This record gives sequence, C-alpha cells and structure tokens, in this order.
Amino acid sequence: MNIPSVIYNSPPRSTSPIHRFIPHSPTCPLLPSTTPPASPPYLFTTDHRQRVLTQLRSKATGLEKYIYLNGLKDREPNLFYEILLGNLLEIVPILYTPTVGDACSNYSHIWRRPEGLYVTIENKGHIKEVLRSWPAAQASRIAVVTDGSRILGLGDLGANGLPISIGKLDLYIAGAGIKPTTTLPICLDLGTNTQKFHEDPLYLGIRRKRPDTEEMDEFMHEFMEAMREVFPQLLVQFEDFSTDNAFRYLDLFRNQYRCFNDDIQGTGSVVLSGFLNAARLSAAAAGTPLTEQRILFFGAGSAGIGVAKQLLSFFTLQGLSVEEARSRIWTVDSKGLITADRKGLQEHKKFFARTDYQGPPLTKLEDVIKYVKPTALLGLSTVRNAFSEEIVRLMASLNTRPIIFPLSNPVSLCEVDFEDALKWTNGSVIFASGSPYKVTEFNGKRYEPGQGNNMYIFPGIGLGTILSKANHVTDSMVEQAAIALAGSLNADEQAAGLVYPRLVRIRDISAQIALAVIRAAQKDNVDENSLFRNLSDDALLEYIRAKQWQPTTSHLPRL
Ligand code: NAI
Repeated sequence: MNIPSVIYNSPPRSTSPIHRFIPHSPTCPLLPSTTPPASPPYLFTTDHRQRVLTQLRSKATGLEKYIYLNGLKDREPNLFYEILLGNLLEIVPILYTPTVGDACSNYSHIWRRPEGLYVTIENKGHIKEVLRSWPAAQASRIAVVTDGSRILGLGDLGANGLPISIGKLDLYIAGAGIKPTTTLPICLDLGTNTQKFHEDPLYLGIRRKRPDTEEMDEFMHEFMEAMREVFPQLLVQFEDFSTDNAFRYLDLFRNQYRCFNDDIQGTGSVVLSGFLNAARLSAAAAGTPLTEQRILFFGAGSAGIGVAKQLLSFFTLQGLSVEEARSRIWTVDSKGLITADRKGLQEHKKFFARTDYQGPPLTKLEDVIKYVKPTALLGLSTVRNAFSEEIVRLMASLNTRPIIFPLSNPVSLCEVDFEDALKWTNGSVIFASGSPYKVTEFNGKRYEPGQGNNMYIFPGIGLGTILSKANHVTDSMVEQAAIALAGSLNADEQAAGLVYPRLVRIRDISAQIALAVIRAAQKDNVDENSLFRNLSDDALLEYIRAKQWQPTTSHLPRL
C-alpha cells in the first residue's frame, strides 16, 4: 500500500515552525483578555500547570503519558516546554529513553497528525523539492535525522523511528534553549527489514526491504547535499543509524557538512567527561599519575568503540601520543578480548585490537581482568548483570577506588546495579551508569550515582555550533565540550564526590559547554560567525544565556 505522498511529504500542520507557535485563537478558553462565557468562571483562581501535571500523572502507562504530552505540545507548546523544564527528571524519560521506545514501536498505531518531515527512498532524484516543502527553511537551525534502522535497543523500526528525532529535539529545546521553531525532525523512510511492519495494515512507511549499500549511499549523498542547499544554516545530527552506517556516514560527511552523530560523538564526549572526573578521584586515592589509567571496555559495538576512541583524548590531554593512548585501552566483545589475529574481525573493532597478547583466546571477562588489571571497567554490552559479584570484587581488589561505568541502557540491560556495586566494593566504587539510579544509602552514608547521559552534552554542542555557525563539528569541539562538562561541577557537587553535575542545572551547563564549543570552533577556524572572537568569555557566556529560548506562559492561570 502506498501512503499518499501529500501526507507523507507535506509540511506538518502542527509542528511546522509556523503553526506550532501561532498565538492561540482569541476564543482559546485560557486567554484572560478574551475569556469566552463558556470558560469555567473560576479558572483563573486555579493553577493550570498543576492541572496538567495531575492529568499527566493519572495516566497508567508510559505510552499514555507520551501521547498526553504530545497532545499538550500541539495545543499549548509553551506550556509543554515550561512543564518539561520544571519537571525534567520526571518527563525526559517519557519523551526520550525509555518510553520513546514504546512510542516508536507503536508509532503507526498511535499516530495523530504529521509532526516531522519524511524523506523516502522514492524521493531519490528530487529530495530537494521534498525538503523545500518545509516552511521557514531559512529559520531552520537543527535537524535530528534517523533512518529508523536501529532505534534504541529495538532494532529496525523503519518509518516508526520519527519520535526519536522529535524527542531528541525536545531535549535540545529544554536543555539548551534552542528555539522550537528552528528545529526539524526528519525520518528517512528507506524501507524496513522488519517483516511484521510489511504485514501491519496500519504501518505508515514504505513496504520494501532496505536498499543495498550502493543505493543507500546515493540517497545519503543526495540528501546531505540537498540539506545544505535548502537549509544553509542547519546542523544535522544523525541518530540511531545501524552501527556500520553510523560510523561510515559520519566519516564520509564530517569534513564536508555541518553534522555530527550523537550516538558516537555525544556518547564519547559525555563518558570522557565523567571519566576525567572519575580518574582524578581514582588516581588521587591510589596516589598514581593519571597516565597510569588502564581502561577495559566490555562491549565493542558502535557505542563501545565510539567511546573508546573519544577516551583516547583522556590520555592525549595528559601529553601521551595517540599510540601510547591506544595501548592503555582494551576491548572485549561476545568472543572475548579483541585481538588483531582474530579471523573475520569487523572493521570498527580493528583499531583497538591488541597485538601484544599471544596466549590462548581470553573469552571470560574475569580472565581478561586478571590479565589487563584495569583501573576502569566500562560496560556497553547490553548484557544484564555481566559485572557479577566476582567481577566487581576483583576490580575492588585491584584498585583503591575502582571506576565502574555500566553504561548499557535501559536498566534491564545494565551490567550492574548501583546498590550491588556499592555493596561489593564496600562503597569505594566510582560509578556512572547509562540509565538513572536512585541515591542510595550504604553503611549509613548517602551515595549519589553518576549518569553518563548524552543529554548533558548534545544540547551544548548543538547550541555552540549553531551560534558560531561552525561549518563543521570538529573533534576538538567535541573534546572541549567534554572538558567543559567535567569542569561544570559546582562546589556542592564536588563535595559530594560526583562525576557529573546535577541534571536540573542543564541550561547553565549547556551554556558553559556552548562557550567551550564556540572557542574550539574559533581555534579550528571553522566558525563562520566571527563576531564572537572579540568578546571576553564572560561577555560571550552572557550572550549565550540571553539567546536561550524561554517558554512564555503568562497568559495561563497561575497561583
Ligand atoms: P551493539 O549491539 O552495537 O554492541 C554491543 C556490544 O556488546 C557488541 O560488541 C557485542 O559483541 C558485545 N556483547 C554482546 N554480548 C556480549 C557478551 N556476552 N560478552 C561480551 N560482549 C558482549 O550496541 P551499542 O549500540 O554499541 O550499544 C551498547 C549499549 O550502550 C546499549 O545498551 C546502549 O543503550 C548503550 N549506550 C549508552 C549510552 C550512554 O550511556 N550515554 C549512549 C549510547 C549507547
């Protein structure tokens, strides 16, 4: 069944920059000056925010909450963003991982109205015209683009992937204060290899298998070229492409277009940041130099290798060469320690494959740890409880303060729970996970877990890139973002021994990261907006903060 292209490709009514922020009609019952007779007479003696939160919390499932919030965004976008900003820790997990996963899996069934741009494989040859259908192209500054091929841990969801782009952009808006009208969610509908969608009568996408590499490459080249022409000031953030394509398109496009990949670079940057603080704590406890850190990655997929590559900077920042840095990193996949002599080794695993191990294959994590003696164990494997009591105790026996970052999401795939890590290391662990854990008491002491959440990083990278009009996102911009995040801890957070700041300060943190990103863009000579070059850091930070968009809800009743 073919979806009428008029629905598919036409600019969405509700989220188009024009529609989304048209002031509500004068008959809107919430406008004080024109309150129609039908409005409840005591509406203005109540707090509408509280009503919205009560309605949200009354929904039984995450998916219902997602649908409710989605409707609220359509009816009252300013209120939606104010509620989001005021209740970040409660609402981000609905708009983004984990609940957005349910929204994507069910998107064809819960779909209400167009809310982003679809570009399909059938548009090949005239992609530019499709992009031009988006109104206010000149105002567009950031697009999150997915091809739906690897949505979170849920696999190939095809055209159902759009909510991942929408959710991510909501976090840019909330986290950095990017103006909503400048955001553009895009799903590339290239078909899907998930058979059940071909058979689902409500599926919204094209019913065909994904293209081969050659056809996909042609499509991607045309798409990126068209994006630059139609949206000259726009930053493209790639999201949830399948592993090999994620790496390949980043490599192909990073020096050609204004783009980055959050799964690879954002994750790398956020983990580097947490690691910078963790290594300081660990090295201080052990009385060893930072350069003696030895990092073992359990999991060598796109996230694992992306993070490992970014952590090279941890060592190069201490003055080591890239080769020396590489020698301090070991990687493990489902077959064990990755060595260069392994047959059929995937391309992306080769860089960290060890050439210095000659013995029989080390297949058990315990044996790898005994051989490597790591100071830090990072999990990006999606293997629940892979860091068993024996493993964690082994790490504690090797280190005064072991660094253990179980980064797999969601919690059901996490390598070790915070409480267990505390118990098995007698409270000495320096911990950061991918998913959130609660503050935990152990032996009468309160411990706050770190969360290596990309949301710390990508809003600031996006804001800094947009403001500086950087024509590329350079490695140094990503690295400086990590350093700025690591340095953003306030005195209270430092005293609590945290490795990441508290997420509620995200606007302030994003402004500091944006400042560092702009300065790095200037050093690399990729900033097309040279006006900032003459501003002091203080003046530039003030400018960035003033640029952060704020929702305005003064027309709504508030107590
Ligand atoms: P992936 O599926 O591409 O890679 C998984 C890796 O784990 C593969 O190398 C695989 O060989 C390895 N693995 C699987 N079973 C294993 C076993 N039994 N023993 C040893 N290794 C095993 O997944 P991807 O995209 O790399 O993501 C991994 C995890 O990282 C996901 O849970 C994802 O949610 C998480 N992640 C966390 C982020 C964060 O904390 N900020 C950001 C991005 C991803």
